[in-house]
Amino acid sequence: MIRGEHRLNGDVMISGAKNAVVAIIPAAILAEGVCVIDNLPRIEDVRSLEDTLTKLGAVCELIDERTLMVDSTNIKDFHATFDSVRKIRASYYLMGALLARFGEAEVALPGGCNFGSRPINLHLKGFRDLGAEVYEDTESGIIRLKADKLVGTNIFLDTASVGATINIMLAAVRAEGVTTIENAAKEPHIVDTANFLNMLGCKVKGAGTDVIRITGVDHIHGGEYMIIPDQIEAGTYMMASAICGGSVTVRNIIPKHMDSLSAKLKEMGCVIEEGDDYITVTSTGKLTATNVKTMVYPGFPTDLQPQMAAVLCKANGTSKLIETVWENRFQYVDELNKFGCKMDVSGTIATIEGVPEFIGTEVFATDLRAGAAMVIAGLAAKGETKIGNTRFIDRGYEHIEEKLRALGANIERIRD
Ligand code: EPU
Repeated sequence: MIRGEHRLNGDVMISGAKNAVVAIIPAAILAEGVCVIDNLPRIEDVRSLEDTLTKLGAVCELIDERTLMVDSTNIKDFHATFDSVRKIRASYYLMGALLARFGEAEVALPGGCNFGSRPINLHLKGFRDLGAEVYEDTESGIIRLKADKLVGTNIFLDTASVGATINIMLAAVRAEGVTTIENAAKEPHIVDTANFLNMLGCKVKGAGTDVIRITGVDHIHGGEYMIIPDQIEAGTYMMASAICGGSVTVRNIIPKHMDSLSAKLKEMGCVIEEGDDYITVTSTGKLTATNVKTMVYPGFPTDLQPQMAAVLCKANGTSKLIETVWENRFQYVDELNKFGCKMDVSGTIATIEGVPEFIGTEVFATDLRAGAAMVIAGLAAKGETKIGNTRFIDRGYEHIEEKLRALGANIERIRD
């Protein structure tokens, strides 16, 4: 429940990156030893992964609220087919990690997608190129992989897929010889996963560019690692500040990761001040329309597209919002328009006529980032907004209502 139209002021600490940690926890399966993972976000996806690794035979213990110890030394099971695996979309990373560790894996895939089709053909092609046999049981939704040995090779990705890039990296660290991934994705969490692997003794070079070279190693040990800050969580609070007006400093971030958003917010009339590990967004709440196109990193992230839609709906003038990564990521539009917004979608292009005022309403989160967009709209709306399906939001945002309340928002959780 949000009572909107409060200006936001103050500091917000950004948590560890969801899309890095959901790759790094499965990557810890590769280590025959203890991994200590720091700056852990306390979000639902992390809890589901802890549960999954424990069921596989790893020991997962929270050393403190932000630090997870994973000891995979005694993992013997490569059948990740139980229900908790289906809860998380990133369960696909168990394939690469289990295949590399055991030469065999059975992984249940997540069920229905929340914004259209989310194929994994490039992941599977990569595993086949490395020498694995891949069997897809479409009836049970289980993928089986087997390889007597994995052998390094050249893999060209048709699309710069984040998941395929990371999954192939996870499998290739134990392959014989050198694997090259061309047209690799460059998102910050790819660099973070590569840094984690290198800290464990793997040899991954070039992450963050579009060619990654991995030289296989025989042994992978444990180690201690700090997850990077969450670019998308930071961007969500920056946009909340822009739409509500006020001055919010997002702390514990890497400002460079925010360049595409900072540039847009400046264009829209916000003042952006950048330090080593923080950005302050100061806004009058009066914004100007602009055009935004989602792109792979370093372009504008698709995971900030729904939140940006909410902000553009309040900006003066007509904006275009173009989605190029996911063909069906505008499923939230009817919900957003309940606030009195004027967003019209044709294919992958949305046209938005800014309105001067949002009216509080009852809406549902249709997925994680769409849920964040509803929160942003609710914060800017006159009167009361109720948001249902908050479990989607909890998958990726830690204590969102507490963080917003500390900035002056009137928001409470009525029911879990
Ligand atoms: N694609 C294929 N084949 C594949 C894989 C992807 O055609 O085998 C296509 C997809 O259909 C899509 C494009 O490639 O059009 C990009 O997909 P990608 O594989 O990069 O996405 P992903 O790895 O499944 C991750 C994030 C998403 C984020 C995308 C794009 C994780 C766990 N998820 O998904 O995050 O939208 O990259 O940046 O890292 C979110 O956090 O809300 C979220 C959805």
